[in-house]
Amino acid sequence: MHIGLINRYHQWLGLPELEAVSLGEGNTPMIHWATWDSHRIWLKLEGCNPTGSFKDRGMTVAVSQARFAGGKAVICASTGNTAASAAAYAGRAGLKAFVVIPNGQVALAKMIQASAYGATILAIEGNFDQALQAVRAVAEQESWIALVNSVNPWRLRGQETGAYEILDDLGHAPASLVLPVGNAGNISAYFHGFRRRNEGIPQLFGIQAQGADPLVQDRDLDKVTTVASAIRIGRPASAHLAKEAVKESHGQFHAVSDSQILQAHEELAHGGVFVEPASAAAYAGLKILYRRRLLPTGDVVAILTGNGLKDSQTPAMWASVEPQIVESQHLLESIGQVMNP
Ligand code: F0G
Repeated sequence: MHIGLINRYHQWLGLPELEAVSLGEGNTPMIHWATWDSHRIWLKLEGCNPTGSFKDRGMTVAVSQARFAGGKAVICASTGNTAASAAAYAGRAGLKAFVVIPNGQVALAKMIQASAYGATILAIEGNFDQALQAVRAVAEQESWIALVNSVNPWRLRGQETGAYEILDDLGHAPASLVLPVGNAGNISAYFHGFRRRNEGIPQLFGIQAQGADPLVQDRDLDKVTTVASAIRIGRPASAHLAKEAVKESHGQFHAVSDSQILQAHEELAHGGVFVEPASAAAYAGLKILYRRRLLPTGDVVAILTGNGLKDSQTPAMWASVEPQIVESQHLLESIGQVMNP
């Protein structure tokens, strides 16, 4: 039974007594993917959350808190996943949701999701960072609208549960953790989650996409490009927290190219794990860290943040989406051609 994260981890979350807004989030599979020399590679499949991404961990907490505090609506800026998650949890809570996106920059399935859950989608002519600035201004002015981006401390508190689950599943802290970084909330949440539990802290490796890698370059970027639209962010709101997390855990930031992302995407999918491009960036980074011998010995967990169905366009860059037309009586011949090319 899925009891949801607030009920499962209430003693760590520091919430007041409130009625949880839950869709059965968390408790995601962590699968043993491979063993590379002295490294046991684990993949945590966050795309198995109710709306298909890790955002649900933070959203259950942020929306529960917003409703408890008397909020009428939630608002967020988003590259897509926060939007879908905010929309779903607002729907569950009986609140209105307003999601603000950079026009033309969000994968279609994520917009369909947000809209289907009943959110109002507003698009600005600008990038994610400008959208975030705009929603922050609105939420500051109107106390009945709760901002549910990861600058909301309850969002980050909820996302700490990813670290709790890893500790509970492995029985100890892994040696390292590899995760994609966009607005930099999640890496910061994992760090604080491990710190709060006080059972060891893994080395944190934050992976960004080349072209949208302000933390690797250590400067804000106004123009950002990458195939991984979820992490197309030039001014991460939690940059300071992420830098602290990486520094204190003796980790690093790394950038991966679009072609490395697509290659990782294909490799994972062919192994049965279909993620979205931003999540594949983490796996691409993991492979580079391994090749450069930067991983410490022991367990390595890669956080695969979102489901592959979130972005159905990008796989078409490496997978054929056209079916092979066959006549039914020639089916076996076509199979034979694949089996014995
Ligand atoms: N992976 C996916 C699939 C994401 O959607 C995001 C962020 C990240 C990684 C990066 O996480 O921002 O905490 O560093 N998506 C946000 C959104 C920005 O609006 O959905 P982060």
